[in-house]
Amino acid sequence: MTNWTELDQNVRTWIQEAGERIRQSFKTELNIKTKSNRNDLVTDMDEATEHFFTEKIRNTYPDHQILGEEGYGDDFKELSGITWIIDPIDGTMNFVHQQRNFAISIGIYDGEEGKLGYIYDVVHDELYFANKGHGAYMNDVKLPGLEPVPVQDAIVALNALWVTENKRIDRTILAPLVKDVRGTRSYGSAAIELAYVASGRLDAYLTMRLAPWDFAAGKIMIEEVGGIVTDLNGDPLNPLNKSSLFVGKPGLHQTILTDYLKRKI
Ligand code: IPD
Ligand code: CA
Ligand code: CA
Repeated sequence: MTNWTELDQNVRTWIQEAGERIRQSFKTELNIKTKSNRNDLVTDMDEATEHFFTEKIRNTYPDHQILGEEGYGDDFKELSGITWIIDPIDGTMNFVHQQRNFAISIGIYDGEEGKLGYIYDVVHDELYFANKGHGAYMNDVKLPGLEPVPVQDAIVALNALWVTENKRIDRTILAPLVKDVRGTRSYGSAAIELAYVASGRLDAYLTMRLAPWDFAAGKIMIEEVGGIVTDLNGDPLNPLNKSSLFVGKPGLHQTILTDYLKRKI
């Protein structure tokens, strides 16, 4: 039997230690490489942080499985037992260029069910946490449930790229949404954008393509405060698949899906 209280304490200790190492790294020169294209960055800190977590988890919980962006995790095809889904630094471009607006994201699944979610904004020292069935918190302050908001009052996070060129949704669909909402924002870290929807700083967030480590923790968090999490067709996400993502406050999510994205739900 898993002792969830002890596990939660361990994750918090490890996140604090990893966060401190990342903050200390600002004083040293980073080794920056590119992955799939010249804007897809990875640094030695992304790798060292994931390695740090996988070592801790394997030493403490040898029967748990790990999915990590940088490849230090395990090879598996289905969620069974306890699975840790880790993005050691979400928002690497911000980490490299701005030294802010990036986060450590850890989602812990029990079978197929999201159980615990942690998003740690390292520079602002904000830990967003969700415990399935027991609420979501920001630095131990409970987050209230999300209330509906009209499109005209909503702040929606999206990347400008999706409005200018985009194979998945025609820009003529997104342009009216951008025009009608109160404002748009783009923070460059999916995990932070998801934590901001959960905490009400944003009303919705949509994006064309994310990986499981980008949304594993945020999905648990948003659902815990009554927000809606789907892909851009309004379908549920598979925690192990890459997909588009659309999250938002109740009511607002449905209105944008049916009136703007023209999807049925
Ligand atoms: C990226 C960030 C970004 C999102 C990209 C992700 P990374 O994660 O979350 O906001 O638009 O799709 O890949 O590479 O910085 O961990
Ligand atoms: Ca990421
Ligand atoms: Ca990352």
